[in-house]
Amino acid sequence: MNTVIAKISSPDYYSKSLPEAAEIIKNGGLVAFPTETVYGLGANALDTDAVAKIFEAKGRPQDNPLIVHIAFPDEIKKYAYTSSYTGCEERLNSLVKRFMPGPLTVILPKKDIVPDIVTAGMRSVAIRCPSNKTANELIIASGVSIAAPSANLSGKPSPTRAEHVFTDMNGKIPMIIDGGDTDIGLESTVISLLAGKTKLLRPGGVTFEELKELCPDIEADPAVRGKLPDGQRPLAPGMKYRHYAPKAQIIAVKGREEKILSYFKEKLLNGAGILCYDEDKLILPSSENAISFGAKNDKNAQAAQLFERLREFDLKPVSVIYTRYPDDTGLGLAVFNRLLKACGFDTVNADLL
Ligand code: TXA
Ligand code: MG
Repeated sequence: MNTVIAKISSPDYYSKSLPEAAEIIKNGGLVAFPTETVYGLGANALDTDAVAKIFEAKGRPQDNPLIVHIAFPDEIKKYAYTSSYTGCEERLNSLVKRFMPGPLTVILPKKDIVPDIVTAGMRSVAIRCPSNKTANELIIASGVSIAAPSANLSGKPSPTRAEHVFTDMNGKIPMIIDGGDTDIGLESTVISLLAGKTKLLRPGGVTFEELKELCPDIEADPAVRGKLPDGQRPLAPGMKYRHYAPKAQIIAVKGREEKILSYFKEKLLNGAGILCYDEDKLILPSSENAISFGAKNDKNAQAAQLFERLREFDLKPVSVIYTRYPDDTGLGLAVFNRLLKACGFDTVNADLL
């Protein structure tokens, strides 16, 4: 299959490419598209055969459910029960008012209209209303809701540019809509509103602190910050996979600044990869194997660059990467989660070495 890349800046995007993309979705095909978080790989959410193609193109395990993307928050009611317990509707409404459209996914009891393949047989459904204009226009033009995981091959870092999607999906899908770099660079925040509780399942662009302001009783699933005991499953099935992982082994390093830097230096000289802050590069020996992912105090930059930098390491002859990681406040929790998950939540303390 020939994979066409349609740039949103092209003069015929609205007259030709967008209608073609909508036609592909309506006819049961796949289209990759930008969102404010990462690129998604979309299909008509109500078409079982179309959704099956997503699992095939990504090599995605069948037990990992997809997010249903809608153009308007009002449509949540079409796919999910919004008042399954007292207070659910009010909570959802306040979340919708503050964060939707935007990088927040909510999990609610599913209605029968949602095919089982979308929810991997679960009785709940994940729903999100992206704020990205291109994503919204595609959903509206297609006239259906769009089931979409991140548009990477399963196990690879999520794509933040059309080129990343092309690397993973060339020949497998008919069209990639190129909207340039995504804004946030990490996937949406996923929260569950099931069974009378509000739980954070995956940290993302909407921070835990922001959610706490609206939902003081919100709890974070232990899988967000640490490794679950053997046999215990995270509430979001996707969180159990070693996602976001480059080909090399990755090891997170903590400790005092000077200790971390001398440890990095030693490892770099021994041929390891180093994923560091911009400031560190000025101190470390110059090397192609030291890649920075933003300034130390700029978590927005770290989120925006992390996945692209991990993809860069896949092209380098390194078998192990030592990495910095931010503290777990604000957007830092999402960066921390993706990096620590890639290392199986093991860290090395440079102070003790
Ligand atoms: O930002 C995003 O959310 C991107 C863009 C494309 O919208 N999408 C995305 O989808 O990250 P995906 O499939 O890569 O991640 C969805 C996560 C997975 O961890 C999945 O297990 C979880 O959401 N999930 C989906 N439905 C669920 C459900 N009913 N219950 C629990 N977790 C669910
Ligand atoms: Mg994904």
